[in-house]
Amino acid sequence: TNNEIILAIETSCDETAVAILKNGTELLANIVASQIESHKRFGGVVPEIASRHHVEAITVVIDEALEKAEMTMDDITAIAVTEGPGLVGALLVGVNAAKALAFAHDKPLVGVHHIAGHIYANRLVKEMNFPLLSLVVSGGHTELVYMKEHGDFEVIGETRDDAAGEAYDKVARALSLPYPGGPHIDRLAHEGKATLNLPRAWLESDSYDFSFSGLKSAVINVLHNAKQRGETIKDEDLAASFQESVVEVLVNKTVKAAKEYEVKQVLLAGGVAANKGLRKQLEESFKTIDCELIIPPLSLCTDNAAMIAAAGSIAYQKGKFATYELNANPGLSL
Ligand code: KG4
Ligand code: ZN
Repeated sequence: TNNEIILAIETSCDETAVAILKNGTELLANIVASQIESHKRFGGVVPEIASRHHVEAITVVIDEALEKAEMTMDDITAIAVTEGPGLVGALLVGVNAAKALAFAHDKPLVGVHHIAGHIYANRLVKEMNFPLLSLVVSGGHTELVYMKEHGDFEVIGETRDDAAGEAYDKVARALSLPYPGGPHIDRLAHEGKATLNLPRAWLESDSYDFSFSGLKSAVINVLHNAKQRGETIKDEDLAASFQESVVEVLVNKTVKAAKEYEVKQVLLAGGVAANKGLRKQLEESFKTIDCELIIPPLSLCTDNAAMIAAAGSIAYQKGKFATYELNANPGLSL
């Protein structure tokens, strides 16, 4: 048959994920084995623990994906794998598994950038219409990416310090909430009122860059000062105020860039795309401009291999194959 079947592997952080994708958009299997429970008590991802879990899980998850898709390796056209960025020891497990599979079954190999993957999660929802802009907000990244065509990424803005998700996780930690804290802050924010006046880092007026560490420090200061004065601030109100500040800057810069670059679509990507406040505010703002907003379902926003398969499919179509020299690259740029 002429069907293109991509098996993709993602192990850049704390999820061991394998997906099988037919003809670029038809998802046949999407297995994600999360390690969150093992990292929770450390308040963050412990790299050594992550690597060890990936080693234990990877073949099981590959078999599970093949079983789910009712396929064998003979049915697979090519193997795609996240080559970076991420934790080197974690990435290595996926890269080595992919190379072993490609070698043993004589299949072409494709390396995928993790952020390209997050952006291409949108292709599983809707056909991409160029030029487009993607707001990538995850635990490790906050970027505005402009795309003229498939595989062409121009980062027009990025965080100068903490990523949005990182700020969420740090604020959550200050409130003694479990890791990862983003969803907890999101939940609390909806029960509270944005009564505190927290800073918004707009930076230079012509910049699409972001900064969240000042905001995070402001939250920690507010907590500290209240404690010293014996006052109490409701966690809900603090969460709501923090969330309002983050969302306002993200949405504002995204809308401004969408207009300036005259894009046809804006794609939301990354784990923080799960944020209800962000989704709502973006939807609200895009009602007024002539640009389509695409927000993937939650399962495609957080780390998964379906998105790596979607990006891998484009790379495969373009003939961008990797050799067996493919290596984990923790600092890979887009
Ligand atoms: O994309 P992702 O799964 O992993 C990375 O590549 O980083 O993103 C994880 C991040 C974490 O920081 C987590 O707290 C955040 O996404 N996150 C959220 C929400 N759900 C996940 N942040 C805010 N609100 C949420 N609902
Ligand atoms: Zn990610």
